[in-house]
Amino acid sequence: MESDRLKKAREYEAEYGSQITKEERPVYHVTPTVGWLNDPNGFSCFGGQYHLFYQYNPYSTHWDSMHWGHLVSEDMLNWKRLPAAMAPDEWYDNFGVFSGSALTAPDGRHLLIYTGVEEKRNPEGGLIFRQTQNLAFGDGTDYVKYEKNPVITPEMLPEGYSAADFRDPKIWYEEKEGQYYAIIGVSTEKNGGAVVLFRSPDLYGWEYVSTLDQSFNEYGYMWECPDMFRLGDTDFIPILPMKMTAKGTEFHAGNNAAYLAGTYDRETHAFTRKEIRSIDYGIDFYASQSTVAPDGRRVLIAWMQTPETMHRTPPGAKWFGQLTIPRELSEKDGLLIQKPIREIEAYRKESVFYEDVLVRECTKLSGVEGRSLDLTVRVKPAEGGLYQKFTIKVAEDEEFYTSITYDPADSMLYFDRTYSGFTHYIISERKAHVRDRCGEILLRLMIDRFSVEIFVNDGEQVMSNTIYTRQSADGISFEVSGGAAVIDVEKYTIEM
Ligand code: FRU
Repeated sequence: MESDRLKKAREYEAEYGSQITKEERPVYHVTPTVGWLNDPNGFSCFGGQYHLFYQYNPYSTHWDSMHWGHLVSEDMLNWKRLPAAMAPDEWYDNFGVFSGSALTAPDGRHLLIYTGVEEKRNPEGGLIFRQTQNLAFGDGTDYVKYEKNPVITPEMLPEGYSAADFRDPKIWYEEKEGQYYAIIGVSTEKNGGAVVLFRSPDLYGWEYVSTLDQSFNEYGYMWECPDMFRLGDTDFIPILPMKMTAKGTEFHAGNNAAYLAGTYDRETHAFTRKEIRSIDYGIDFYASQSTVAPDGRRVLIAWMQTPETMHRTPPGAKWFGQLTIPRELSEKDGLLIQKPIREIEAYRKESVFYEDVLVRECTKLSGVEGRSLDLTVRVKPAEGGLYQKFTIKVAEDEEFYTSITYDPADSMLYFDRTYSGFTHYIISERKAHVRDRCGEILLRLMIDRFSVEIFVNDGEQVMSNTIYTRQSADGISFEVSGGAAVIDVEKYTIEM
């Protein structure tokens, strides 16, 4: 049942994973057991627990030969590591077990659906890649690939759709219809990236239903890792537009994480797009996946990194790649709202509160410091006029800091990690246009040793970023230029 490649991976991670100490990892963010992690996969509830898998190369801190790593948790924060679930050990996934999703099959088994990448030679001797969608069934620890894989092949797509870029199935069950659906990313010859919908009555036989939306060569040549869900009256389709050009302050050049908001007609299977927005405005956010908690909350988690910086492993790292904090999703005015899952509150320890502190120039507040924090700062203009710039510096010592600056004149929030411990030249700055509230802004910073996630104005926007500043740099300061501001601060350390 356990192939040689899976056995080897499990033995390797058991030996080397245990050599990484708790102190070398973030406190409440997921990292690989050992080696490399990218996309979250198979995020689901099964057997009374949350299961989370991830794109995984145990053998090095670089992307290669994708496996699925595996974790389980009661609360989506405190994860227990399980042995790797899948290895590239079949003809149709010899190049890699790529991303996919999970649900509970009608017979009670845990079903994984994923992209297998087959590497082979064409008649001229050149290398070609073929991507197909495949099933595996398991008991929550051990998984067996379906003997009649693949179940969805590129031949089932309309003409002009790629066989080499056809991946990342996200599956769900439509109760009323008694049908399974999967949304899958694909590249098309004419229009670039697209998302297609497939349907199955029994998980084994699948048919192409429709093309839900396309890039029309405006938003990249390929859309990876799609998802689809409804919140309020809006249907959301998260996608990853690859290699697009920058657009205003909404999309940067390269690979983006976006969502389409609109209406999906369940009769015609047509999607009408009203909006396309960034999911996250930070430097490190890609490949999100959502699940539904037993209490009905839609929760999203993502790879807290980008393909652009994937080769920037810090020297001596034993793991590379983190996931974001899981986020509760909701809808407001047709747009996506994200908040850290409320389960984090159970891990809040020391608390410090300040109200109406007047900040001019640089201020430090006693008890407000640390590298594993849930820190909320409400900024208001002081009486007598609007300040020019408000800055919070975190992970600070005499040499390093990471800064978050608000400029109310143009409602722009700036993130800067130039002085955050990197030893190579890396993308360090990003900005987001936020909703103007006359100089008032609410910032919730989830800080965790190697990252800073900034939730703006109750989750209207998020900026996720990794940092590698030495852990002794744990100072926090507040700075105002061109006037004064008044702040309320709520700080909790997070311990696990
Ligand atoms: C996104 C992605 C997916 C693919 C996986 C491979 O980061 O490129 O499209 O399935 O990573 O690791």
